[in-house]
Amino acid sequence: MEALFLSGLGSNSLACSRTLTPSSPLRFPNLAIRRVVSAAASSGPDGSSSRPKYRLTILPGDGIGPEISKVALDVLCCISSEEGIDFEVQEKLLGGAAIDALGTPLPDDTLEACKDSDAVLLAAIGGYQWDNNEPHLRPERGLLGLRAGMGVFANLRPAVVLPQLVDSSTLKREVAEGVDIMVVRELTGGIYFGQPKGFGKNSNGEQIGFNTEVYSVSEIDRIARVAFEIARKRRGQLCSVDKANVLEASQLWRQTMTIVAKDFPDVELTHMLVDNAAMQLIRNPKQFDTIVTNNIFGDILSDEASMLTGSIGMLPSACVKNSGPGLFEPIHGSAPDIAGQDKANPLAMILSVAMLLKYGLGEVKAAERIEKAVIQTLDNGFRTGDIMSAGKKLVGCTAIGQEVIRAIQANHLASVHSCIFDLLCDRAAQNKHDSGGKVDIAELEAALPSFGMEELRGLFYSGRGPF
Ligand code: IPM
Ligand code: MG
Repeated sequence: MEALFLSGLGSNSLACSRTLTPSSPLRFPNLAIRRVVSAAASSGPDGSSSRPKYRLTILPGDGIGPEISKVALDVLCCISSEEGIDFEVQEKLLGGAAIDALGTPLPDDTLEACKDSDAVLLAAIGGYQWDNNEPHLRPERGLLGLRAGMGVFANLRPAVVLPQLVDSSTLKREVAEGVDIMVVRELTGGIYFGQPKGFGKNSNGEQIGFNTEVYSVSEIDRIARVAFEIARKRRGQLCSVDKANVLEASQLWRQTMTIVAKDFPDVELTHMLVDNAAMQLIRNPKQFDTIVTNNIFGDILSDEASMLTGSIGMLPSACVKNSGPGLFEPIHGSAPDIAGQDKANPLAMILSVAMLLKYGLGEVKAAERIEKAVIQTLDNGFRTGDIMSAGKKLVGCTAIGQEVIRAIQANHLASVHSCIFDLLCDRAAQNKHDSGGKVDIAELEAALPSFGMEELRGLFYSGRGPF
């Protein structure tokens, strides 16, 4: 498939061509955020400015995946144009779409492209038509193989109840309001991957199916460090969830968490059994800040946590490792029942783009502009069906994406205006000084028509203001 090159410095139109750029490192788990400018970045007219370029792989997958991917790409195009960041985006097959086209849920070419990118954006995989396939021909195998192949062992799943959507939660307002939890799920170990596994016969000759929950100290240690780092940047509370009263693998988990905690004296570590955690999440979710847990408990608890927020259609996630490309995906599935009807909520996918920019590429400002635009879209009353409530405007997948883009562009204009205002204030102060303490309005007014381009140009190339 052809690569799409999104280019955007100082232009409202989107230049599309093919390009090659070197890959950039992922800065995680320290979450040290910095902008990486590739060696191939181009310069401004005076040679003083360069812009970053990133190679992304997008995996639309199945069901609603292609439609939410299209919206996410439109948002990426917009942010490319607004922020002057270039993206070379290539699309690859994964899951059911790959099974149908190439007979495997994870083509080699897809895995290679992902490993060779700066970051990967995945929509969703799966659908009824593949449900009865042999295990190795199920879409989920493609996703698990991709996570393992990319080595992204840490899955960050935030669950935040937005004030705009608090009434979409099935919990009472006073329970749901203000919930802000980060679930850190171990993603490449445990019972999902443990050996031995399979089908066999027991001593009575009866058929059995079996899996193995297994963790090594190093696997627990590395996910613990990611979780402590995250908790340290949040409210400093880490709750490790396990089943240490029954499972040996959980006992080792608890021991290792306790040892790693010594390196993070500023973070308060608590332990909770998973059955209790499932209950506490419903009873009093605000007691949680950061949760760290194994692969299968994380799968279950993150779905539960997401429902506190009103809709799973709002939640993005990041799958990362210590260095190398991360995988960014909404938490929700492929929703085959509404696929192709323009009813899907693309906001989790759009917020996954924001996570990709922030955690995968260090493009914090671009990420925050997207997050802000999503909030504004909700503030403006637009809702997809899953988050609809009385008095709001029901729109489809494409339309809500357009509203997010409109909000990004409106914010840009607002910051240009405030920048011009700041310039005017500077000029007025200078004017006041020059004219001996009294602002010479006539002089200021005379300066206004010529005012703008040169100063804006200066700001543009100095990297200040909204540019
Ligand atoms: C998730 C999903 C996957 C998982 C499935 C689709 C394999 O439920 O990302 O939470 O179990 O990890
Ligand atoms: Mg799940």
